Amino acid sequence: MSKIQEQVTTGFIERFGAPPGLIVRAPGRVNLIGEHTDYNDGFVLPMAINRAVYIAARARQDRQVSLHALDMARTIIFDLDEIVYADAGWGEYVQGMAFILQRAGQTLRGWEGVVAGDVPIGAGLSSSAALELATARTFSAVSALSWNGVEMAKLAQRAENQWVGVNCGIMDQMISAVGEAGHALLIDCRSLDTKSVPLPPATSVVVLDTATRRGLVDSAYNERRQQCETAAKFFGVPALRDVTIEEFEARASELDSLTRRRARHVITENHRTVEAAMVMQQGDAIKLGQLMAGSHISMRDDFEIANKELNLMVEIAQSQPGCYGARLTGAGFGGCAVALVQVGDAQSFAHTVAHQYENKTGLSPQVYICKATDGANLVIDQ
Ligand code: GLA
Repeated sequence: MSKIQEQVTTGFIERFGAPPGLIVRAPGRVNLIGEHTDYNDGFVLPMAINRAVYIAARARQDRQVSLHALDMARTIIFDLDEIVYADAGWGEYVQGMAFILQRAGQTLRGWEGVVAGDVPIGAGLSSSAALELATARTFSAVSALSWNGVEMAKLAQRAENQWVGVNCGIMDQMISAVGEAGHALLIDCRSLDTKSVPLPPATSVVVLDTATRRGLVDSAYNERRQQCETAAKFFGVPALRDVTIEEFEARASELDSLTRRRARHVITENHRTVEAAMVMQQGDAIKLGQLMAGSHISMRDDFEIANKELNLMVEIAQSQPGCYGARLTGAGFGGCAVALVQVGDAQSFAHTVAHQYENKTGLSPQVYICKATDGANLVIDQ
């Protein structure tokens, strides 16, 4: 039993005097390649990681939902017949999920429980998506709804867009819902078809948190989305997914320099992502590493979402023995980088990179050697 699972079990027993009726788990994620492509109807290649949100719960006879967050020592309580936005931080992900599920026509039951997790909050590893999917999985279990990961991911994204007010794409919710152990998933963000691709043999995926946070991220993220829409309009297509590299090059000079660079990132990144899935099928860590390195340069120079700490982290990572490639991962502007490393070198890599980064910046980075895990699941159902 994982440590967090034990924590929610004990926390539940302390609060409610009996073991929980069920325990659900929903993971965070790291994206190997395919950044800012999801809202352009393109391709992403994330994996669910062995850091997750757990909820221990039992059904109630009435329509009340009560959830206590062990990490925050706070409880959110609401009635399913009267869900009101309260700006309650993490609680709004729970309320938003309930609201959207009901609006989609689902009949929900009330429940009570405790929640805890080890996905670092705000680091860019999708703690929000993990909480949304853990909530969705709990509602689904207590209300006896059939579980469809892709449909739930869409509803969770809607909750985040419409209730929480963050204009994210579908990647984080999809991978938290339908991730597969030992694999990354190539997700077509238009059709939502997925293809599981194994991690190259004898490699480790290492997440390097720069300990910098994305300040004004919402405005910068939305600005990027708008620039992509402008570019798609120029090409006369619904989304940049529909523009090939050849079509782009033929007309690139007609675009202003900023729009050109934004479009070039998305169009080449889609290409790299599909290729990355192909080379992973062949077990080719060297090619995958090269594609990751290329992706970082594109994000640094064309999409301009790397801060100096992310550039430094990637540079340090890529100069270590056993590192195939590294890049920023997630929305950017702070947060984490991801590196693909030879399995035997992973421990010393983690140690050396953290040390060198700290020496140069004075910041203490967190480093996580990650395993690819399954998406949201019911761990215990009594
Ligand atoms: C955030 C968003 C995702 C995606 C990434 C960038 O994680 O939530 O939808 O757009 O940024 O790839």
